[in-house]
Amino acid sequence: MISYGVAAHGGVGTPEDLSDGCKAACEAAFLMLEAGRNALEAAIEAARILEDDGRYNAGSGSALRIDGKTIEMDAAVMDSEGNIGAVMNIREVKNPVLVAQAVLGTPHVAMAGRGAEAFARKLGFEAYYKVSKRALENFKKTKKTLKEGDTFWEFYLDDISEQKIPGPDTIGAVVMDGNGLFATAVSTGGASPMMVGRVGDTPMPGCGFYAGPRGAIAVTGVGEESIRKMLAKTVYDMVAENMDAQAACEKGLRPFAGQKRIKMGILALTKQGCGLAATDPMAQYRMIKQA
Ligand code: GLY
Repeated sequence: MISYGVAAHGGVGTPEDLSDGCKAACEAAFLMLEAGRNALEAAIEAARILEDDGRYNAGSGSALRIDGKTIEMDAAVMDSEGNIGAVMNIREVKNPVLVAQAVLGTPHVAMAGRGAEAFARKLGFEAYYKVSKRALENFKKTKKTLKEGDTFWEFYLDDISEQKIPGPDTIGAVVMDGNGLFATAVSTGGASPMMVGRVGDTPMPGCGFYAGPRGAIAVTGVGEESIRKMLAKTVYDMVAENMDAQAACEKGLRPFAGQKRIKMGILALTKQGCGLAATDPMAQYRMIKQA
């Protein structure tokens, strides 16, 4: 059994040597938990740090869309008391996860696009647009493989399968606080290659994230697949039926076994401990205080 704890990941496909950023995020969240702050606050802080890192596909490191200039981001927060806030396709903010947190103070659950940006500005979030070195390099790789006359989806299906182009990734944090409350916070620049306007699983409850009285789940990978399987809720239901967190993450990945094209990762935290399973390498870190 654990007293409290946090785990964070940098997205499926991120090299494990980028785990130092996840460690920094966990350390900050863990200090908050030690000081008695709640799971939601700690999860959001961990996600904010990962967004600011610039080496992950979220916040300052967000991927470019297929037009080579647009950055649209998705983020969400949820706790085991039923609070959910999400933003979809938001542009020109530094920390989408903080805007998702702000949605909690409205009658709504999710805000999208221009309305979400106007909402953010009204609350004082400054305009911010940054194309990271990594996003630019990844876009160039994507562009190189695009053949003349290809439709976007022909290109997607051919080249993602051969891993010639960068895949999806999403940052995520799962937390349990000293009162036994759970929370999760997730954020992404989307799964490359992607059209302008495409929304993935990250802001969709039960798909990219879920938190309930029995645990917190953060999903990373090809959002379309996660949405089709409602992956986060599927894994949550397993832990809610007392399956071990590690076993539940592994079972959640089973439908993707042998499908080279589909990169997926799942991080879960329960009162019994932490589980993580991924089809590819994944930067991650965890800090758990045992009871
Ligand atoms: N999992 C991130 C995305 O599909 O957008």
